[in-house]
Amino acid sequence: DKVLLLYSGGLDTSVMAKWIQKEMKKEVVTLTLNIGNSNLQKIKEKALGLGVSDAIVLDVKNEFSEKYIAKEIYADGMYEGYPLSTAIARPLMAEKAVLYAEEYGCNTIAHGSTGKGNDQVRFEVTMKALNEDINVIAPVRDWNMNRPDEIKYAKANGIDIPMGGKYSVDENIWGRSVEGSSIETVSNPLEYDVYEWVKPLEETGNGDIIDIEFKNGVPVSLNGKQYALKELVEKLNVIAGNNGIGLINHMEDRVTGIKSHEVYEVPGAMAIIQAHKMMESLTLNKSELDIKNYMDNQWSNFVYNGLWYDPVMEHINQFESSINKYVNGNIKLKLYKGNIVMQSIESENSIYNYDKISYDNSNFNQDSAKGFIDIYKNNTVYASNARKEKIKL
Ligand code: ARG
Ligand code: SIN
Repeated sequence: DKVLLLYSGGLDTSVMAKWIQKEMKKEVVTLTLNIGNSNLQKIKEKALGLGVSDAIVLDVKNEFSEKYIAKEIYADGMYEGYPLSTAIARPLMAEKAVLYAEEYGCNTIAHGSTGKGNDQVRFEVTMKALNEDINVIAPVRDWNMNRPDEIKYAKANGIDIPMGGKYSVDENIWGRSVEGSSIETVSNPLEYDVYEWVKPLEETGNGDIIDIEFKNGVPVSLNGKQYALKELVEKLNVIAGNNGIGLINHMEDRVTGIKSHEVYEVPGAMAIIQAHKMMESLTLNKSELDIKNYMDNQWSNFVYNGLWYDPVMEHINQFESSINKYVNGNIKLKLYKGNIVMQSIESENSIYNYDKISYDNSNFNQDSAKGFIDIYKNNTVYASNARKEKIKL
């Protein structure tokens, strides 16, 4: 009877590793996934030092970019105006946890989420969708631990307490989510120690012009050089972050019905999604854009709400990948003091028709516009004339 613990190396999950062995008397296997810049070797040593029987570490950055971030770019995935970064990583973590639990003969999975948030929902819905028989425990939630208790337990059990744990942070290459501590008092101004990826505006320079090339909806090159998606995102995090882009100070509505105050640092994601939307506006027609906007919102809500494995997601993802085959081309953006301004755009799939639109020539039959308006007006004009009183606005 073994427990597979999703282990980050931080305080919560280190206390859990000890607690499950000592108080629950169960063997523990830890699983650590690198989707950002975790030091896997160090974390593995720390886990083994806590007495666990196996410490699995995996670098899944590539899989995370190719299978998850790419889909989010297709769908311009945002919740309440910020790119989803924590939410999009949870299904991958849950999948790997189930896979390794099965392989290592663990019938229970433990994760470090609280009982107040979204992550517990995302982990558990996904795990149950993949293997309904697996038990899931969340010690921070289930045993109602608080920070002082954890620190006491850590000290008593020789667990070293990580430094700088002022905020609760979740990060991966797509974004950094920060909450807790002084952020919880919403009347407090944002403190500068929250920022890690994004430069405060008063410290940014004269801006940068970047050139992104999209192929089938995914960025494939930056400033003329080809990169794998994960590298491109990492590069853009630095360039956009240096220009003050992607700091989002947000009041959020969680699945659990509570409002929370969170700060997101998503410089690369913000630049990519903006660029992608601009490329869509050149290459998709209005019907496609309208339906896509609806699908994008649905996609984002399902991901935020932990429903990655809802069957409808297969259909939404198919729509997204199908429509994205037209999203090809190059776009130049100026990044300057938190702003993203388009400089130029071109695409082999462009629908923009210079010959028709230009005021400098007559390839558009403007005469027909009169007849068009004569019919088009009827719906509004007939009804407003029929009203006894003139419409007052
Ligand atoms: N509320 C955000 C979300 O649901 C982020 C939560 C991440 N956790 C953290 N410790 N900051 O995606
Ligand atoms: C947590 O509750 O562990 C983090 C916040 C969230 O999931 O929304």
